[in-house]
Amino acid sequence: MIYRRSGHSGIQLPAFSLGLWHNFGGVDDFTVARDMVLRAFDNGICHFDLANNYGPPPGSAETNFGRILSGELKSHRDELFISSKAGHDMWEGVYGTGSSRKNIIASCDQSLQRTRLDYFDIFYSHRYDPTTPIEETMQALIDLVRQGKALYVGISKYPKAQQEQAYAILREAHVPCLLSQYRCSLFDQKAKHDNFDCAQSNGSGIICFSPLAQGILSGKYNKGIPEDSRAAKPTGFLQASQVTAERVEAARQLEEIANARHQTLAQMSLAWVLSDPRVTSVIIGTSSVNQLMTNISALDNLDFSEEELKIIDEIVQKPTISF
Ligand SMILES: NC(=O)c1ccc[n+]([C@@H]2O[C@H](COP(=O)([O-])OP(=O)(O)OC[C@H]3O[C@@H](n4cnc5c(N)ncnc54)[C@H](OP(=O)(O)O)[C@@H]3O)[C@@H](O)[C@H]2O)c1
Repeated sequence: MIYRRSGHSGIQLPAFSLGLWHNFGGVDDFTVARDMVLRAFDNGICHFDLANNYGPPPGSAETNFGRILSGELKSHRDELFISSKAGHDMWEGVYGTGSSRKNIIASCDQSLQRTRLDYFDIFYSHRYDPTTPIEETMQALIDLVRQGKALYVGISKYPKAQQEQAYAILREAHVPCLLSQYRCSLFDQKAKHDNFDCAQSNGSGIICFSPLAQGILSGKYNKGIPEDSRAAKPTGFLQASQVTAERVEAARQLEEIANARHQTLAQMSLAWVLSDPRVTSVIIGTSSVNQLMTNISALDNLDFSEEELKIIDEIVQKPTISF
């Protein structure tokens, strides 16, 4: 595993982190979930990314992770870097969503209980909530650190203006933002242009999610929608309507470049996200140990020639491709 420093901090993170958004919930096979977590850890992936609502049902990914943690990983807590987040819909009533102090503090307490942890290594505001003053949201994060429930804090999907505000408030309280989480893939380069420089100049690390556009950039949809894929599952967030003919055609063309590099399309797509030196870590999602191991092997070739980058750009820089 390769480790990269997260912004202006003492923390190093693995180039690949494992995300538990899909495939680790109550509807999934616990044995497979456990095997993926343990195999990831054995291969140097010490960062696991959670959120209160991951499942389904919401909360069950944290419960399952807590089970794995208190079993095989029990003696390894200090080798692990574990995140959770609050901000998306979680429980009934007006306090169960958004980024109020009430939601964030209660949510963190619930997540600690489910994961059976004493503290999170990093706790995020999962999304900017325009109905809550940003000062209130940031103060809640700061207080989680003061209360010993989180070592570091982060923001996820914050638009540029609020991203800058968040950094300033956190910095003033001497609880600097450790990580900024943004979606980034060959099919979605918006955050690269809008948010990465701002994060870097404010000393925040950058961690990217959905690097394979939820699987389209593995090439698995090139011959239609496989039965066991995310787009085919009723609980998957990837809609079949998002697997468009244009994206599949782009994936086919990209696959040819990947093969010429002796990589699978998934490996090349992951290598491409990591090839941006501003990126600290890429959060991968996997549904099998086989996918996990394939994806980790992307680290064998992270370099791109100018010619390759030019051809890749020509394929993906189209309005019909971008998410
Ligand atoms: N901050 C946020 O708001 C936010 C939002 C989204 C995600 N995230 C984080 O980012 C993590 C990753 O997101 P993601 O799951 O969307 O990532 P992704 O890498 O874009 O998609 C992962 C899916 O692609 C397929 N796949 C992966 N490797 C493959 C391979 N080698 N061959 C074939 N198919 C492969 C699998 O789907 P199949 O089920 O089809 O096999 C897998 O579940 C999440 O778990 C979460 O921790 C954060």
